[in-house]
Amino acid sequence: MSKVIKLLHGLWLLVRKPYLINLILKDEQELEAAFLKRFAQIKLQQIDVFEWPEAQHLEVKPYSFLSGSSLVTDFALLQLVCRKYQVQTYFEIGTWRGESAANVAPYVQNVYTLNLSATQLQQLGASDAYIAAHRTFSKKITNIQHLEGDSANFDLSPYLASCDCIFIDGDHSYEAVKRDTQRMLSLRRDEQSILIWHDAKSDTEYPRFEVLRGIYEGLPAHMHQHVYLVKHTLCAIYLPGGHTSQAQALHETPNKSFSLTLKQEVFQA
Ligand SMILES: C[S@@+](CC[C@H](N)C(=O)[O-])C[C@H]1O[C@@H](n2cnc3c(N)ncnc32)[C@H](O)[C@@H]1O
Repeated sequence: MSKVIKLLHGLWLLVRKPYLINLILKDEQELEAAFLKRFAQIKLQQIDVFEWPEAQHLEVKPYSFLSGSSLVTDFALLQLVCRKYQVQTYFEIGTWRGESAANVAPYVQNVYTLNLSATQLQQLGASDAYIAAHRTFSKKITNIQHLEGDSANFDLSPYLASCDCIFIDGDHSYEAVKRDTQRMLSLRRDEQSILIWHDAKSDTEYPRFEVLRGIYEGLPAHMHQHVYLVKHTLCAIYLPGGHTSQAQALHETPNKSFSLTLKQEVFQA
């Protein structure tokens, strides 16, 4: 098919199915172009938290190995940050199966995890099975408090200026990441508080520019210099202070390997 015929075919499809425009606007190249247009001066940096001494021993638990779960290394990152920076209060947007909350709970005093309620999820058309899986791993852990609501308008006043680490893992659209980032700033205990975003990469090497644009637009410019992609994970982190980092790169030759031992624990749902 020639390019002209493809163009006419594409236009005809758009007239018949206007929602297809989202496929173009969400195309990764379009999203990267939008990010670079807005933040031409930013050079993405990556940090390797697995070089920290605390990373010598890591036990990621629980881990479901089910669809849509975070990576083992994402939960390891949360654990590492909580241990290294002696996080007391951890707040997250996005509970789902409760895996991230359950992974940090042994290392902090208080975990607050916010998620849309079952009713809100139903109204959005979520299946009963998806809704039922929420909190599976976190509901019985005593230092985890489950909060229900939409991060867009949830009343944050009880948690203001009290959190050492905030994990943003709810709605990953640009608009929601920007809004959640802006709202979470008020929860920071102080200037040293840490922010972590999930899905800032589409795999461990490729940046996800829709999420990155939300992060950088949500943060005031003076905080941009402390934002890093986290090597071997899908996360980005706001980590104040000086840290060894390197330019984000694709197709790296590995300089380390991990070894995993798998153990199972079967429980009644
Ligand atoms: C990717 S999952 C979270 C996974 C979890 N952090 C983990 O790693 O185990 C995202 C969750 O965010 C919730 N969510 C999406 N939009 C939200 C919003 N606006 N407010 C609160 N929760 C939201 C969804 O219901 C879903 O359970």
